[in-house]
Amino acid sequence: MNPLATELNAALAGTAAEALLSGLGRRMYFPKGIVAQSAEAKKGATRANATIGIATQGGKPVFLPTIRSLVPQLDPEEIFPYAPTQGVEKLRELWKKDMVRKNPDIGDSKFSLPLVVPGLTAGISTLADLFADQGDTLVLPDLHWDNYPLIFETRREATVDTFPFFTSAGGKSTSGGDKSTSGGDKSTSGGGFNTPAMEETLSRAAKKGKVILLLNFPNNPTGYSPTVEEARAIVDAIRRVAATGTKLLVITDDAYFGLYYEKGIYEQSLFGRLCALHENVLAAKVDGSTKEDLTWGFRTGFITFGGKGLTDAHYEALTRKLMGALRSTISNSSILAQSLILRSLEDPERLAQKAEAGKILRERYLCARSILARKKSTAIEPLPFNSGYFMSFHVKRGTAEALRKALLTGGVGTISINDRTLRVAFSSVDVEKLEDLYEQIYAAAEKL
Ligand SMILES: Cc1ncc(COP(=O)(O)O)c(C=O)c1O
Repeated sequence: MNPLATELNAALAGTAAEALLSGLGRRMYFPKGIVAQSAEAKKGATRANATIGIATQGGKPVFLPTIRSLVPQLDPEEIFPYAPTQGVEKLRELWKKDMVRKNPDIGDSKFSLPLVVPGLTAGISTLADLFADQGDTLVLPDLHWDNYPLIFETRREATVDTFPFFTSAGGKSTSGGDKSTSGGDKSTSGGGFNTPAMEETLSRAAKKGKVILLLNFPNNPTGYSPTVEEARAIVDAIRRVAATGTKLLVITDDAYFGLYYEKGIYEQSLFGRLCALHENVLAAKVDGSTKEDLTWGFRTGFITFGGKGLTDAHYEALTRKLMGALRSTISNSSILAQSLILRSLEDPERLAQKAEAGKILRERYLCARSILARKKSTAIEPLPFNSGYFMSFHVKRGTAEALRKALLTGGVGTISINDRTLRVAFSSVDVEKLEDLYEQIYAAAEKL
């Protein structure tokens, strides 16, 4: 093992973070190589800086005017050079400040400075590199983003253990955990988030002493976010599992943060409650500008750690592990995208503009709700939804794939998540087209 990795492991000794590291995570370090030496030279090399592999003239990057003229308000330094591995410092600070504004439940809990990654996918994959080993268990609701199994099972050889997302309408758990990775047939409409099934599945996995839980609200594909009471119950359940001695990495995928359409929803990230919950819990928040600031193709996301009892030195060690993981994969994220997000975070107009964009989605949500309230079908039933970009149907007759194909023949695109679940992204359909969209879906479902 490289002595720098040994040093970082020693800095983390005795923490849940250390116990949760994968083999790769234990071996990972940030080399004192080109990038670190260049960063040092940036401060100290006043005479000539012959460190970094970019072309400069008079200390400024050499660039093509054709490119530069497309972004006239930014300085060349904000457009062309490499960004630091961990991201532009000021952007990290502003994102952290904004995180506290958006999540008052963080209170005075200590958490790390967000580290920049090229999108949330890279954030989740980097966490999987550092914390998931062959045979480790990742607990997920049965309705989840299909990239999670690809990352954790296919790449990292972890085992995915799922539980039914929703309770039945009566509020009871429908079953105690579905082992299928592609999502099961067990989520039924009418209920809320199935915390008892989550706890049961976590407790079963916890017998190994280590478990990874990934929660994504507002959820893809259901469009569901927990109520205030449900959020409390989820956090209590995690605390109970942690109290048994098991170490938990809890990842919150907050891709759709901020898009809440009903009263009573917990309008914060669970990260805020998790980062001071229990010494055995390491919380990792993955978020970004992708959906929150409508910059899907920018590839700007963040990873932030929080854990009860963790000190600045622990966060520094974790950050250096992350930096090593990034240096050895994507190297660094686009400076242009980071500069644009940074400038926008400084702009007082940003929040009002975000609210305007949010109104477009809220209008579609309300329209979809009122259409669905008028529809009846024995073939399909909407699953609960209250937030985000999506809603899903529980397909009771035929299969979701057959329904998807039938719809496509008629010019309507939807996604079959599994045999029984059809996802509709109302976020990407103009409000005037929603009536026809749902008309087509119900008509096609009747023919199944
Ligand atoms: C739940 C969830 N997480 C993460 C992502 C990906 O985010 P990014 O485009 O920033 O990688 C998506 C995108 O569809 C998503 O639905």
